[in-house]
Amino acid sequence: MPSSTLTVTDNRTDRTYTFPIEDGTVRAMDFRRIKTSDDDFGLMLHDPAFMNTASCRSDITFIDGDRGILEYRGYPIEQLAEQCTFLEVAYLILFGDLPNARELDHWVYEITHHTMLHETAKKFMEGFRYDAHPMPMLVSSVAALASVYPEADNVHDATNRLLQIKRLIAKMPSIAAMSYRHSLGFPYVYPDNDLSYTENFMNMLWRMVEPKYAANPVLARALEVLFILHADHEQNCSTSTMRVVGSALTSPYLCVASAASALAGPLHGGANEEVIRMLDEIDSIADIPAYIQNVKEGRGRLMGFGHRVYKNFDPRAKLIKKIAQDVFGVTGHNPKLEIALELERIALRDDYFTSRKLYPNVDFYSGLIYQAIGFKPEMFTVLFAIPRTVGWLAQWQEMLDDEEQKIARPRQIYTGPRSRRVVPMAERELAAAAR
Ligand SMILES: CC(C)(COP(=O)(O)OP(=O)(O)OC[C@H]1O[C@@H](n2cnc3c(N)ncnc32)[C@H](O)[C@@H]1OP(=O)(O)O)[C@@H](O)C(=O)NCCC(=O)NCCS
Repeated sequence: MPSSTLTVTDNRTDRTYTFPIEDGTVRAMDFRRIKTSDDDFGLMLHDPAFMNTASCRSDITFIDGDRGILEYRGYPIEQLAEQCTFLEVAYLILFGDLPNARELDHWVYEITHHTMLHETAKKFMEGFRYDAHPMPMLVSSVAALASVYPEADNVHDATNRLLQIKRLIAKMPSIAAMSYRHSLGFPYVYPDNDLSYTENFMNMLWRMVEPKYAANPVLARALEVLFILHADHEQNCSTSTMRVVGSALTSPYLCVASAASALAGPLHGGANEEVIRMLDEIDSIADIPAYIQNVKEGRGRLMGFGHRVYKNFDPRAKLIKKIAQDVFGVTGHNPKLEIALELERIALRDDYFTSRKLYPNVDFYSGLIYQAIGFKPEMFTVLFAIPRTVGWLAQWQEMLDDEEQKIARPRQIYTGPRSRRVVPMAERELAAAAR
């Protein structure tokens, strides 16, 4: 009977250690027992970029990157995207089960009645320059809400926590819309409680003088599905940031601002903006082979391709391709879609991409859809941050309730000099002159 243990021999001492293997993992702290002497600190694991480290146990999101599977709380993403609303999925991600009709009504009511921003938020917003990028505006405004809701610091009180979760989910679209209107110099639009989550967001973005905003139902549904697809993705860069900052028991507004800052980078949530720039640069189908050749020779990357976890089709990319067709049916033809389709077709037949298991990821088509709906590329990461707030908060809550977790604090291998002597400035000057 094979035993679920790992036996390692330390060749420095000839001592053998046996550690339990649980859920395909060994405990890094077990390795600390491996020492050459009593005053030795013990072995550490060196894992830059956390390529092979499970930092937590989680019940929220399951990904099988080799098979292209994504599930929230055990439900396949395809079923959720086809049959649910975003707030229904948010409830599932946060509380573990799909709501019944009464629970959903209550949840939607609660979120809808927290969409209004404190009037000071307008003042934060007015401080930004007219051409400020909406992502730093969003990050700073969410962080500033920590000053409006100081009681949020009490992160161990579950009732208080739930109130902040509702506020954050409800207010992210309001802040995002405000940042967009600010960049155009348009007056801010207040939320409309008769509308759904995505329709209300569209209302706050685009209502002008009409008394009631009527969202196009195909576009509102497309946005809803995109929000569902972006709601959580287990321990990615921004979610890990959320957990790390949250582990210091920081206010959830500051945690979400930190997670959103991580999301802003071009290798994470900023990639869809880069895809549009790439498609602009390619300009015509005839230019695609030369572009791909450049990428293969190491000059740039094919943006929207490749993923740390998916080594097969990103299931979200498949769903997004379908939505693109619905959206373009309403907004009309976009020549960039032809370039994207041809780029995908050529790359998927090229050994460079197939041998490295580089497939289109969620960002490859999402930017095109956002652009067709009417968003400028600067808004794309903001559109990612709104639904991902749900995932960040669910993971934050799980981390706070997890008795195994403590303040996150990795170790390092120190490689710098030691025990140097501070010399007086005059000596440093002489040394510099002699160099
Ligand atoms: C997402 C991403 C950061 C994952 O990176 P990773 O897991 O660290 O993978 P690596 O950078 O180690 O890449 C592995 C190999 O594939 C190549 N590669 C990865 N993504 C590539 C891309 N988009 N275009 C061209 N080559 C790529 C790398 O050059 C490397 O090749 P090599 O083995 O010859 O050196 C990376 O695929 C990427 O930069 N993609 C483009 C940005 C993007 O779309 N991000 C959104 C993610 S949802």
